[in-house]
Amino acid sequence: MRIAQHDLAIYHFFRMMQFGVCYYPEHWPQARWAEDARLMRAAGLEMVRIGEFAWAEMEPAPGKYAWEWLDQAIETLAAAGLKLILGTPTATPPAWLTQAYPDCLRMDSNGRYRQHGSRRHTCPNSPTYRYESRRIVAAMAQRYASHPALIGWQIDNEFGGGKTARCYCPHCAAAFRVWLQARYGSLADLNEAWGTVFWSQRYSDWAQIQPPGSQIDKPNPSHELDYYRFCSDSYVAYQQTQIEAIRPYAPHQFITHNFMGLFRDLNQHDLAAPLDFAAWDNYPTGNPERWRLMLYPPGMDTRRTDPTYAYDVGDPIITGMAHALTRGLKQAPFWVMEQQCGHINWGADNPGIRPGTPRLWVWHAVAEGASAVVYFRWRATLYAHEQYHSGLLRHEGRFDAGWHDQQTLLAEKGLLDAVAAQPYSAKVALLFDFDDTWAIQLQPHRADFGYLRHLYVYYHALQQLGVAVDVVSARADLRPYRLLIAPTLHLAGPETAARLQAYMAQGGTLLLGVRSGFKTPSNLVTAAPLPGNLRPLVGAQITSWQSLPDGVSWQVETAVPDLGGAVGYWVETLAPETAGALAHYVNEEAQGLVALSENRVAHGRVLYLGWYPTHAQAGALLRYLLPQLGIAHLEELPAGLLAIPRGPYTVLLNFTDQPLTAQIGAQPLTVAARDVRVVG
Ligand code: GAL
Repeated sequence: MRIAQHDLAIYHFFRMMQFGVCYYPEHWPQARWAEDARLMRAAGLEMVRIGEFAWAEMEPAPGKYAWEWLDQAIETLAAAGLKLILGTPTATPPAWLTQAYPDCLRMDSNGRYRQHGSRRHTCPNSPTYRYESRRIVAAMAQRYASHPALIGWQIDNEFGGGKTARCYCPHCAAAFRVWLQARYGSLADLNEAWGTVFWSQRYSDWAQIQPPGSQIDKPNPSHELDYYRFCSDSYVAYQQTQIEAIRPYAPHQFITHNFMGLFRDLNQHDLAAPLDFAAWDNYPTGNPERWRLMLYPPGMDTRRTDPTYAYDVGDPIITGMAHALTRGLKQAPFWVMEQQCGHINWGADNPGIRPGTPRLWVWHAVAEGASAVVYFRWRATLYAHEQYHSGLLRHEGRFDAGWHDQQTLLAEKGLLDAVAAQPYSAKVALLFDFDDTWAIQLQPHRADFGYLRHLYVYYHALQQLGVAVDVVSARADLRPYRLLIAPTLHLAGPETAARLQAYMAQGGTLLLGVRSGFKTPSNLVTAAPLPGNLRPLVGAQITSWQSLPDGVSWQVETAVPDLGGAVGYWVETLAPETAGALAHYVNEEAQGLVALSENRVAHGRVLYLGWYPTHAQAGALLRYLLPQLGIAHLEELPAGLLAIPRGPYTVLLNFTDQPLTAQIGAQPLTVAARDVRVVG
């Protein structure tokens, strides 16, 4: 049960932008800690995150706790005036634990148990691991929750990182069956929901159901989607075990988790629900390497980050979308719990970071709604897996690029606080749904059709127009938004349809894209005419759909400026019922058929765009819709320049190596290379 004091305390954390750093006192001699703490304060850091990988140091032998070093580290940091965030150490259990209880280990889909020596090698459904996790976390909470310097907790570290979202061990197989029984009640219902009549899959005993992954060819997509959901729910339950171990001791402290931006393997909306606020780990040069493959438009060179940007800044639109998704988890300010401040060690190449770039990243995070930025890490480590990773201090202890930028940020802290105090208020939201992501991932129908790629088209277009945008679940509070864009609302169940119907009653505009309303929640194609449950909203039927090969296109004619012309990749034709038409196909295959419909519903309207737009077409459609909705936008910004509105301020960020000029209000404004300018 949360108390009012707790809510007040959380509010306090968001009043001013705060800086912190991730620190591993156990990696350095105790004699050094006081000097580190002094330097942290000199850098204007107010908080330190510690502890998240130190289980073996806290409990070197079963039940034999060794708290003295941690007591001492906390006292030293607190004495310097630093506040503390304690990470629970469950991503890295001691070797004795998995030796004594090998059933804690996770199993991959080839039936191989993963071993000690790295991290995240345990199973969230192992009863022993749950017990042991609860035990160490409760012991920490009991010992430290009353410490006046402790402000909050981070549960575990990056759930699902290193491709660990899905375990295939016997505990998971058993728990999956229980999960299925709760979801479907009977085998008859499960057989129907999964379409097991196909290929003789019918199950006559729950014990026949295994985790998917070891089949010849692909598993049944309904079976697999349910496994993805189950694995995600397993982490939600595992996290809850830890929350419940902490809360009774620490009702006045926050509890969060460090998410991973556009990471898709676990449902971040569900994981974030019981947390006080969301946080994520921002590695701008590393993440685009992972994500551009699933975001950059078809035909673009995905082997390298968009060369528009300076070589050491990453891709700010990808980073921005991750900020937006994290902000959307709670529709509230968030933290960057790990902020890259120099080179990393896990990219294909890991360039040195030039002065000015860390400052750009921090400003970007704050402009997007981060109320705290915690650098990763304090000092480059001398040993083990991350020797080549940088920190604010170099290996030998001298200051690195991030440290110097932090001095500049301190000098402009007043302006950072002023921007952070303004609400990030978006009138446009992109609907994002993990079940839809997974369903499309399991059956893309065109190898490069990606759910997030489709979302990114609109996100990118909105960034180029300088329009604030949230990325939220359909379960979010939709009242703030005048325009809702659901590029692929794929598994649209009756509940989602009802929520959107309610959104119509408030006068909202909903823009739906291809493949919406196509499936049932159990991942079967709907037997109803398309778009299934969304048909009353759309006021039209989808009469055909297909993915076109590269080089083949259809032609669209429309009165909407710059929207028509060649379209490809994925096309659908519409037959309006109550809707009107805003665009038609004029190619032979679909001559005269509707390509974009518009339907009045209650006080609102629903548009259905029957093809997969290019970035330019999405921009054209937005330039048509935004003025109708009274949402201001800029003229298209030069590539590499972002303009983020925050109340009376606009934060301009230049991610290129040239000065760039934008028209903001009456004045042309120039922003120097890799620089920030705040106007307003
Ligand atoms: C993060 C992780 C940290 C550290 C960092 C290195 O993903 O949470 O523990 O490994 O990467 O960049």
